[in-house]
Amino acid sequence: MYRSNTCGELRASHIGSEVILSGWVHKLRDKGFVAWVDLRDRYGITQLVFDEERTSKELLEQARELGRETVIQAKGQIIERASKNPNIPTGEIEVLVTELTILNTSLLPPFTIEDDTDGGEDIRMKYRYLDIRRNPVKNNLIFRHKVSMEVRKYLSDQGFIDVETPYLIKSTPEGARDFLVPSRMNEGQFYALPQSPQTFKQLLMVGGMDKYFQIVKCFRDEDLRADRQPEFTQIDCEMAFVEQEDILNTFEGLTKHLLKEIKGVDIQEFPRMTYDDAMHLYGNDKPDIRFGMQFGELNAVAQHKDFNVFNSAELVVGIAVPGASEYTRKEIDALIDWVKRPQVGAKGMVYVKCNEDGSYKSSVDKFYDQDDLAKWAEVTGANPGDLICVLSGDANVTRTQLSALRMELATRLGLRKPNEFAPLWVVDFPLLELDEETGTYHAMHHPFTSPKPGQLELLETNPGAVKANAYDLVLNGNEIGGGSIRIHDKETQATMFKHLGFTPEEAKAQFGFLMDAFQYGAPPHGGIAFGLDRLVSILGGQETIRDFIAFPKNNSGRDVMIDAPAKIDEAQLKELHIKLDL
Ligand code: AMO
Repeated sequence: MYRSNTCGELRASHIGSEVILSGWVHKLRDKGFVAWVDLRDRYGITQLVFDEERTSKELLEQARELGRETVIQAKGQIIERASKNPNIPTGEIEVLVTELTILNTSLLPPFTIEDDTDGGEDIRMKYRYLDIRRNPVKNNLIFRHKVSMEVRKYLSDQGFIDVETPYLIKSTPEGARDFLVPSRMNEGQFYALPQSPQTFKQLLMVGGMDKYFQIVKCFRDEDLRADRQPEFTQIDCEMAFVEQEDILNTFEGLTKHLLKEIKGVDIQEFPRMTYDDAMHLYGNDKPDIRFGMQFGELNAVAQHKDFNVFNSAELVVGIAVPGASEYTRKEIDALIDWVKRPQVGAKGMVYVKCNEDGSYKSSVDKFYDQDDLAKWAEVTGANPGDLICVLSGDANVTRTQLSALRMELATRLGLRKPNEFAPLWVVDFPLLELDEETGTYHAMHHPFTSPKPGQLELLETNPGAVKANAYDLVLNGNEIGGGSIRIHDKETQATMFKHLGFTPEEAKAQFGFLMDAFQYGAPPHGGIAFGLDRLVSILGGQETIRDFIAFPKNNSGRDVMIDAPAKIDEAQLKELHIKLDL
């Protein structure tokens, strides 16, 4: 037997018992005549004691030689500690060791296995197995396990069936590039790894499965950010015989359940906002509504004077930053520099200080009097003590810039509280999105999304105005899920492909299987997929999903531990009929 107990469970009530523990040497404190070893495993730390009198001299000598991270087994008796440690659950006891076995030695780890480690990101990723021994990483993985177990429990109780779908498939368009896998047996042909199981889950509905879910890996070759990984996990769901309302209610139920079980937070009703409102009020289709600072459009109250920057702008829009009228000239200049950074790209920023005495001081006092500025304050909802920040220019671009500023200021002001949760359904997304560069439309969600009833005809005349039966679930300013009611008849699907620029032949070659299936009694259906990594990290109060993935990729899409991607040898290439032209 390697162990009778774990290193996290022994308490004062165990005093007097004999135990066997196994784990890693976390720390050694050596006083010469007595030595203490902190023994660590997944469950916690227990102090082992070796001393000349109560243990043997040989054992003490052996203990004094133990290096960090050596794997040992220790047998002994639980005794009361002379100096107790109230900071750890096992702090009242220690184990007086009578037998010590070294199970394995360890090289000196390249960073300290402590909550606050001295190891930088790169070195921790290279030795991720050591990083996982640290509490913050270990606890994140345990937290993720809890979330995914709750998801399975809830959905299974609701009658959802977990069905696995294949990973070696044909490309599914979700907007990113595919990862491709060459086929040895089919020369010159490739599988694609799924960007999502979208078409398969729809085929399961045609198959009569009715309520499907899967916690599933998806693969997307896209630029990485804090909330994106090339392989990530979805909670993928689909239901038959449902309307949008049914889906929203079902998955509001799941999210409420998770918030309650995991965070103890009770949220009765999730607010809903249309895509158009989200863009106008927050400049963003995933607004963080934990705080205000809604956009105020100022065209009507700012374009009647000689200030040409505003007069020539498509949109003049501002936000009131609470309590920021006290910002110094230097602080405001820094803010202006911030919006001018290439990542944000504003040309400049106009500001108005709303003084406590009700007067205004602005950077454009030359053009606007106190009455004008009072109107700006009214439109942006500014109170005395606030600072109004105003940007102008092309409408879409300016909204995006102001949204970035809003989020930055909220972060600086501590308004994005990690333990406050504000879910929001964003609904009525446009069906199509114009690609400014090519002038063509592509599906905003994916090509299987149905237009709102009665809007199919609009596709011919004003494609950009067609709204879809598509929705996103936003949590604290992050898109944690998205889905839609699907097209379930062949003709509509064919029309949709036509509008997306597919010839009938191309549509048949790529999606013939789905259109065929639609001819055999496809039920009305719809669904949603949550990003599990995102959901878990936000519930965990963070926004970097990497910290909640056991073996993540770095910003260049590399796994630095196993050193992948890697070259493959000539023989393997030949077998796959691939000639590299580098
Ligand atoms: P969508 O593309 O919106 O929808 O993806 C669903 C959710 O997956 C998460 N997500 C990601 N998480 C981490 N890294 C990524 N690279 C990444 N990309 C997406 C997001 C997102 O909300 N088949 C549809 C769903 C449906 O229509 O039912 C789909 O995949 O949280």
